[in-house]
Amino acid sequence: MYTFKDYYHNTVQLSFEDRPFSHEPKHVWVVCRRGDEWLLTHHLRRGLEFPGGKVEDGEKPEEAAVREVREETGGIVSYLQYIGQYKVSGRDKIIIKNIYFATISDLQDHTHYNETNGSVLLKKIPDDIKEDKRFSFIMRDDVLRHSLAYIQKHCLHG
Ligand code: GTP
Repeated sequence: MYTFKDYYHNTVQLSFEDRPFSHEPKHVWVVCRRGDEWLLTHHLRRGLEFPGGKVEDGEKPEEAAVREVREETGGIVSYLQYIGQYKVSGRDKIIIKNIYFATISDLQDHTHYNETNGSVLLKKIPDDIKEDKRFSFIMRDDVLRHSLAYIQKHCLHG
């Protein structure tokens, strides 16, 4: 378990165990890989981030993950793996998110994306991302660093 502060000084707890905080989390976040690139979305307010969002009523978190990737990037998920969970304790709200690793088989061109400008492909996530204002605050805490290290070790081959 890792504990640290996020960009807004909220406390974040992060774990790569099996659903340590909730079996029915209301949020998902999906680290997407398309070929040898990372697939992100350009959120209209927050900037560049991996896609994600809220689990809708009657939906499983995995279904929300696939839907959010499609809505925010046009990407079709061909493989989805749960890797961990994090909990953000804000002033008046607690958020629990499942983190997934996804492989994208196809990128469809949509004319309209949910609250975003659609897909952005990056060969490399910058090492100094915490100082890089092009990126969303959700990319600028240690959730990303630990998740990428986990994915490098357990999900990427060759
Ligand atoms: P609506 O309910 O749609 O209005 O959204 P909201 O703005 O209340 O956002 P949401 O419920 O998704 O999140 C509430 C707060 O939790 C945000 O303002 C953030 O401070 C925090 N939060 C949400 N997601 C993340 C995340 O991935 N990382 C971090 N560090 N904080 C997050």
